[in-house]
Amino acid sequence: MSGTESGKGGDVLRAGVMGWPVSHSLSPRLHGYWLSRYRIRGSYDAIAVEPENLAAALSGLADDGLRGVNLTVPHKIAALALVDKIDDTAQRIGAINTIVVDGDGALAGSNTDAFGFIENLRDQVPDHVAAGWSGRPVAVLGAGGAARAVCTALLDCGVAEIRLVNRTAARATELAETLPGLADRAAIYAWADRAGALAEAGLLVNTTVLGMAGQASLELDLADLPGDATVNDIVYAPLETALLAQARQRGNAVVDGLGMLLHQARPGFRAWFGADPVVDDGLRQAVLAGL
Ligand code: ATR
Repeated sequence: MSGTESGKGGDVLRAGVMGWPVSHSLSPRLHGYWLSRYRIRGSYDAIAVEPENLAAALSGLADDGLRGVNLTVPHKIAALALVDKIDDTAQRIGAINTIVVDGDGALAGSNTDAFGFIENLRDQVPDHVAAGWSGRPVAVLGAGGAARAVCTALLDCGVAEIRLVNRTAARATELAETLPGLADRAAIYAWADRAGALAEAGLLVNTTVLGMAGQASLELDLADLPGDATVNDIVYAPLETALLAQARQRGNAVVDGLGMLLHQARPGFRAWFGADPVVDDGLRQAVLAGL
């Protein structure tokens, strides 16, 4: 299929999300909302791909009439070895979540999670982002893939001190040592000392699974967190986690995790379907209905 159809009168423009399992993905609902809102003749489907079939599925993208895909668990890292180009952010994060089939059929891999994280904060607390959290440290809970994306965005924003707090300290050290530019700006705190990492912080981000429906709760004493700090939980099910409820109650600005999911989808939609989509309340409600 040629990549030149407009989507208005030509063939249906096609994209999707590959994962294993993939049925839980909210991405079809998200892109489906935008396709209908912008009246684009397109489709975006959940595509179940077993890990051993990822290489074949990606090499067959163009032949299958797909303009690209999002990748979710467990394919984000494996895809690094299977695409033709990798952008700088994906290279640094060490994972790909968006693939675009170029005009020449080459697969271009990128990672939009760092973009989604910071755009969500720009949307919800623009003054805090613009002020760089007044030059204060940022505390990040967790050291997995989500923390890598969050730290990448924070480094790109010029944050001078990132406090890494993780149950397994060795993973925090590894994150600091392997993410370009982080080692000089990282301070590692033991999990037991997590409350102390909040002193003077301008922003607290939870990237762990704690507080997510079905997971253990996050036990965290916020007493040392300044009253003007922002608290962002990237967990979005439930939307208002116990952390956010606790922070809201003591007067902190709070940002839920759904916005990161919505904003990270924008670059892929623009590349595949040709419209620059907006994150609005209608989209939030449409996606929340799928939770
Ligand atoms: P993702 O790629 O989504 O970030 P992940 O790599 O599985 O997912 O990371 C999950 C994070 O939640 C990790 O920081 C993990 O801590 P460990 O590195 O010590 O495993 C954290 N996490 C999961 N369960 C936890 C628990 N019970 N207590 C504290 N942290 C936990």
